[in-house]
Amino acid sequence: MADVAYIRSLLKEHPDFPKKGIVFLDIFPLFKQPRAVETLLAHLVHHLALSVDSQVDVVVGLDARGFLFGPPLALRLGAAFVPVRKRGKLPGECVRASYVKEYGEDIFEMQADAIQPGQNVVVVDDLIATGGSASAAAELVLKQGGTLREFLFLIELTFLGGTKKLPAPAYSMIKID
Ligand code: ADE
Repeated sequence: MADVAYIRSLLKEHPDFPKKGIVFLDIFPLFKQPRAVETLLAHLVHHLALSVDSQVDVVVGLDARGFLFGPPLALRLGAAFVPVRKRGKLPGECVRASYVKEYGEDIFEMQADAIQPGQNVVVVDDLIATGGSASAAAELVLKQGGTLREFLFLIELTFLGGTKKLPAPAYSMIKID
């Protein structure tokens, strides 16, 4: 719990960003302190050791802040890292899934050979709000035959109910109600 309080204390709140009424939680102050990044990664590895009873084969990170946590977490787990990106950014054949954002729709892509059928996959992102992007990422993992073991988030905005939409258990280090 001390880990959680320490990480929480480093998040900076920005009222009315990017628009009025939104309290934006900035995670970048955390990256100014190597000890905080170390604490966060150790916390997630410890959590996974308790929650997922087999080797994690693939860590999927979501564009863009999931790319901050995904690769170092994958390295610690001895797992592959696979990016999910907004449409048009990844070369080669891709699988696609659409999701609803605050205004309109967007499309996520993953390279078509990124996950082998039966591989154990965890999906990681910095924050879950309504869960649209995490659900689309899940669709891409499942399309490739991956076994979704868990979703990991640094922050969950619980009042938006995003984790209820997800097709696997979710763990959020910090819950904001
Ligand atoms: N993404 C969606 N809502 C957010 C918030 N309040 N802070 C940071 N990122 C977000």
